Amino acid sequence: MNGKKTILSGMRPTGKLHLGHLVGALENWVALQHEYASFHLIADYHALTTNLDSSELYRNSIDMVIDWLAAGIDPASSPIFRQSQVKEHTELHLILSMLITSARLERNPAVKEQVRELNIENVSYGHLGYPVLQAADILLYKGDAVPVGEDQLPHIEITREIARRFNTQYRYVFPEPEAKLTKFARLPGLDGRRMSKSVGNTILLSDTPDEIARKMRTAVTDPQKIRRNDPGRPEICLVFTYHQKFNPGEAPAVAEGCRSGALGCVECKRRIAERIAETLAPFRETRSHHESHPQEVLDILREGEGRARTRAQATMADVHAAMNLG
Ligand code: TRP
Repeated sequence: MNGKKTILSGMRPTGKLHLGHLVGALENWVALQHEYASFHLIADYHALTTNLDSSELYRNSIDMVIDWLAAGIDPASSPIFRQSQVKEHTELHLILSMLITSARLERNPAVKEQVRELNIENVSYGHLGYPVLQAADILLYKGDAVPVGEDQLPHIEITREIARRFNTQYRYVFPEPEAKLTKFARLPGLDGRRMSKSVGNTILLSDTPDEIARKMRTAVTDPQKIRRNDPGRPEICLVFTYHQKFNPGEAPAVAEGCRSGALGCVECKRRIAERIAETLAPFRETRSHHESHPQEVLDILREGEGRARTRAQATMADVHAAMNLG
């Protein structure tokens, strides 16, 4: 640990990742991975809270790891591991579950929103406990910071409450983790809604230049700009958001051309599709290397899971000692 603070970052294994994951999370993880001792968690148990079908979990986890590696996560410095392969997550989850009331969990806006979005009629015990498992994920590594998007803030707050409760009930074991918010606001999907695989409005990190160009042609633009020469409003156009992110040098000229009517949407989309394809080119190369060397990926996981387990066991020893168990 050599004096560095610890980061615990996590994602549910949803398979191949999209640009929203890159901008909203991975870029941040990569930027922080050497400044902090980082642990990268694949939250495969969490995936079960909203989908009991486990048949794709393994494949999705592998696909996600490949995208993490391609985005620049360095497994030599930061272990990558599956929650399900480090038993201590379930053990700490059990202990922490006594330190929070069910009323508090029922008030959690993040779970409420999920229930609304997915039309869940009866929330399972495990789903209600989602943030408790997440607290175990973070506290097991004594995480000081957690890089997340705003939607995760309620979970981090619950983690802090649970840490405080443990520390006062028994003795000090857990630092109270802080959320480290991503700088760039969320990247919208191609239809202007939240970018999400289930909505089908994403550009995947693994998409080819042709796929990127084809998808970009479907993106919604300013509805007032109908013909090429109509003046547009870049500030309300999601294609312009993409220019700001992936083509910052030319963005002012793009905005000017859009406003004056000199630049049509077709050309504007063609240009940004090219820039995105360029940004993702090295990424696709690393990805194809890993896809053709599956054993390397499995070795990275096995090694990461070993390191995570060592750290998790050390924390559980502290927990048991603080509680006089053992
Ligand atoms: N809840 C997170 C999400 O949906 C995933 C997650 C699980 C997580 N455990 C975590 C994130 C621990 C940060 C830290 O994206």
